[in-house]
Amino acid sequence: MGTEKETRIPSYENKMDNTTYTLRECTLDDLEGVIEVNEKELPEDYPYFFYKSILDNFPESFLIAVNNENKIIGYIMWRVERIPSMNSLKIINKGHLVSIAVLEEYRRKGIATNLLKKSMPKIKQKNIIEYVLEVRISNHGAIDLYKEMGYKIDSIKKKYYRDGENAYYMIKKI
Ligand code: ACO
Ligand code: ZN
Repeated sequence: MGTEKETRIPSYENKMDNTTYTLRECTLDDLEGVIEVNEKELPEDYPYFFYKSILDNFPESFLIAVNNENKIIGYIMWRVERIPSMNSLKIINKGHLVSIAVLEEYRRKGIATNLLKKSMPKIKQKNIIEYVLEVRISNHGAIDLYKEMGYKIDSIKKKYYRDGENAYYMIKKI
């Protein structure tokens, strides 16, 4: 409960190595740059129309990090899943973290943490009961990041990825 405190996320971050970056909402013009980061950093590639539909439907929680040369160095995107509830006729909403990535040379500077902190309140506004995500069980860095943010491993999805790797299904309740 107490963890949802309204913390102000600085849009600029200055570190000892002088990495300055800004977080802002993704626009149509940014999509190619987002796809470039995804293709560089993650084996799961999506077709253009998939990114476009996320942008059309959930623009407030589709954020990018850009460096001081306006180059896209990271992104986060979410969608809302509508699921029939197990014990009633109601439909429940879950905020599903579709994808997050930061270019390798910009990692461990808190950029992913800030992308999460800034986007989670946005997707929360869609009446969700929890945040959910899948992550490769070998992806220790990402798993640590999610644990730091209060996510817990709920279950394993066997052979979730095309190469046969299992996924952890992680949840953070609202
Ligand atoms: N090893 C161990 N712990 C890590 C690592 C790592 N490689 N990366 C992050 N963490 C943990 C640490 O606790 C870290 O805090 P610290 O640096 O003070 O120790 C904390 O998470 C915060 O890290 P950030 O700096 O905010 O994370 P970063 O900006 O480096 O981005 C990310 C993390 C997105 C996982 C990045 O490594 C990446 O792009 N990886 C490739 C793409 C990927 O795996 N994305 C997630 C797939 S799952 C999904 O999208 C739903
Ligand atoms: Zn997923």
